[in-house]
Amino acid sequence: MNPPSQDTLDTARSVAKAAEAGYGRTADRVPNEATALALQDTLLTPRFYTTDFAAIDRLNVEPIREEWEKLMAEFEADNNDEHFQRPPDMRGDCSKLPEGLYQEFREFLISSCTSEFSGCVLYAEIKKRVKNPDMKRLFGYMARDESRHAGFINQWLKDFGIGVDLGFLTKAKKVTYFKPKYIYYATYLSEKIGYARYIAIYRQIEKHPELRFHPIFLWFEKWCNDEFRHGEAFALIMRANPDLLRGLNLYWIRFFQLAVFATMFVRDHSRPEMHKALGLNPADYDQRVFHITSEICKQVFPVTLRYDTPEFLKGLQALRVIQESVDRAKEAGGIGSLLRRGGLALQAAWVFGRLYLQPVHRQPLPEQARLAPSW
Ligand SMILES: [Fe+2]
Ligand SMILES: [Fe+2]
Repeated sequence: MNPPSQDTLDTARSVAKAAEAGYGRTADRVPNEATALALQDTLLTPRFYTTDFAAIDRLNVEPIREEWEKLMAEFEADNNDEHFQRPPDMRGDCSKLPEGLYQEFREFLISSCTSEFSGCVLYAEIKKRVKNPDMKRLFGYMARDESRHAGFINQWLKDFGIGVDLGFLTKAKKVTYFKPKYIYYATYLSEKIGYARYIAIYRQIEKHPELRFHPIFLWFEKWCNDEFRHGEAFALIMRANPDLLRGLNLYWIRFFQLAVFATMFVRDHSRPEMHKALGLNPADYDQRVFHITSEICKQVFPVTLRYDTPEFLKGLQALRVIQESVDRAKEAGGIGSLLRRGGLALQAAWVFGRLYLQPVHRQPLPEQARLAPSW
């Protein structure tokens, strides 16, 4: 008999963890592997968040009312209403993908679906819990978009017979509390980096249609405009409340930019086959995404990272190597593995700290907060 693959082991562990955490009395209650993968909460996997809804309720957008109403009109117009439909005869023709590529692409789809759904769950909850009409309206629109996105990815997953059980996930996935201001910084960044990631892939397959190994990439261009718009909403919220963008908060802004970039770098390097198939080198692709994201961030953040220096890249590479050692230690298991992982966590914190202390760019905020998706 062949030994179980690392993937199977991870899934089994995650099913067991889900069962231990009380999601069901027996492990087999987790409906399938895809849902088990989506349930995983690690530093690199998408999480579900909750926050202080009363603080969101108190947000005031009066200082930027005119820009706000324009943005709400765009949401209202809903120009992607018809976009997330696929021709009935189109299926994810990926059953013949090479094994390595299939595994990475499957994991990419599950992780993207979870992260879209995480936005949906948070936005829908905020909409439900606030009375402030501006917030209720905004979070209603954004929940609508994210639910469409998550459902769309899940349709393609179902072609492989591995759809995520989103209902189960809603009940079972651990929810992490984030202060409202962390939600603004982190969600703004994740919307904008989401835009940058999708548009960078779309531009690549536009130039090289022969590299498009799955039809879903055809949807990325209009799709990422939704993410861009979601980011615009958080940009306006922060610009309307400028205390969020000065003083000690600048340290949080630097922290979240670095956390988002480092997570993406490490995660992308764990998908070599997928990047090869798209004709992309993960380090170059990430530089492109950092560039787009950082240019956009200048609309709202007075500090941005110097992501293109040799020191910065060296630090990210070091984090990637540490993550590979963590994966190997996990595979080995046992007490030795726990000790080893503790040591590696300290190393990672040290490297992260050094990256954090790198010099940054500082710039005044532009008069006009709004930006158009022009990349
Ligand atoms: Fe989305
Ligand atoms: Fe979004």
